[in-house]
Amino acid sequence: MSRGRKVLVVGSGGREHALALRLLDSPSVGQVWVTPGNAGTEAHGGGALSNLSGEPLALARAHGVELVVIGPEAPLVSGLADELRRAGIAVYGPSAAAARLEGSKAYMKQFAVRHGLRTARHVTLSGEAELDRALAEFSSPPVVKADGLCAGKGVVVAESFDEARAAAREMLEGVAFGAAGQTVVLEERLVGQEVSVHAVCDGARALVLPAAQDHKRIFDDDQGPNTGGMGAYAPAPVVGAALGAKIEQEIVQRAVRGLAADGTPFVGTLFAGLMVTPEGEPVLLEFNVRFGDPETQVLMTLLDGDVGELLYGAATGRLDPSVVSVSSDHALCVVMAAPGYPGKLTTGTAITGLAAAAAVEGVQVHYAGVRREGEALLTAGGRVLGVTARGATLREAHERAYRAVSLIHFDGRRYRRDIGRRALAP
Ligand code: AMP
Ligand code: GLY
Repeated sequence: MSRGRKVLVVGSGGREHALALRLLDSPSVGQVWVTPGNAGTEAHGGGALSNLSGEPLALARAHGVELVVIGPEAPLVSGLADELRRAGIAVYGPSAAAARLEGSKAYMKQFAVRHGLRTARHVTLSGEAELDRALAEFSSPPVVKADGLCAGKGVVVAESFDEARAAAREMLEGVAFGAAGQTVVLEERLVGQEVSVHAVCDGARALVLPAAQDHKRIFDDDQGPNTGGMGAYAPAPVVGAALGAKIEQEIVQRAVRGLAADGTPFVGTLFAGLMVTPEGEPVLLEFNVRFGDPETQVLMTLLDGDVGELLYGAATGRLDPSVVSVSSDHALCVVMAAPGYPGKLTTGTAITGLAAAAAVEGVQVHYAGVRREGEALLTAGGRVLGVTARGATLREAHERAYRAVSLIHFDGRRYRRDIGRRALAP
């Protein structure tokens, strides 16, 4: 028995709590640090999981870290994985060059067209002078996307041409998103069901995980503004075996080959946001270059085996899918958010009932915007908790998650009552 690898997870959300717990459970892993982490990842289990503060490279060197797992997109786009690799440290996460797939929507669209990935028709523009001509290429109002990273807020699904024009103008004038909006993509609006497909990649090969469904809008029935994600479940029944195989061949494998052929091999999680059209065709909406949040909370719940070994293998070019197995169970996560989210937040209120919720069979509460003050746990961000349950059926996972949610209290908490409803409907 080896002493177990030392792993550093970069990030502070529910995604990173879920990754850290799953890594801690992995036979190949001896120690997990999270930087900066949150109240869920702070010292417990005799210190085998704890938080560190500082620069990831300095921390990795000081603590003899053997694998760094990078959660969020921003450090990937700005080259953290490259910096760590240059220092000889194994990293699960793509280079800045490969991370452009998420960092630039114009680049992602070019990539998709070049490598034959099915995606919505689009026009890229970089100035207001081109706007009217670009809009005239669409017969119905296009979706307007700022080119750069906008923390999930750079997309306007316009209901009219006037709204599309105003949104594009605001982006191009730099009012809404600064430099991230200086280039704008207009694309054909698609209808259908959105799914999130994650693949663990080692530069040449990919292990595709079960399709998940996120719930992006803040209110039930997909009303209100977009958020980072209010809940998720997996596997998503809309992706049957035939569609899953098609997504794997025509989207994921093509993308992984294309990235390698372009000289930017992809190591890390390639996350395809897809629209499944009413005809059952998968169309690429976006690539993310990291695990989704809250998709990770459900995917980590469904992976049995040694996730630490899986990610280490991917990081070192030796992906070995046999070290994990995908459970035939179902998982569902309900996000509990602070009042005001996704707008102006009220935070700093006490959270109670966590122990009772965690005692519900099959439930793991993933912490996100939570901080500790003495004995108390206080809300400290927009998305506060992800209450994740595993069950033999989606119905069982749903029942367990909502039972646990009903035991957790903080003032003004908001959460959706309809996570998984579409898949549970007869
Ligand atoms: P993105 O960041 O590109 O995934 O866009 C955020 C959200 O906007 C997506 O999750 C979809 O809900 C919506 N969206 C993006 N592109 C389209 C499209 N072409 N048609 C319809 N909805 C879209
Ligand atoms: N839940 C969607 C994302 O992480 O981008």
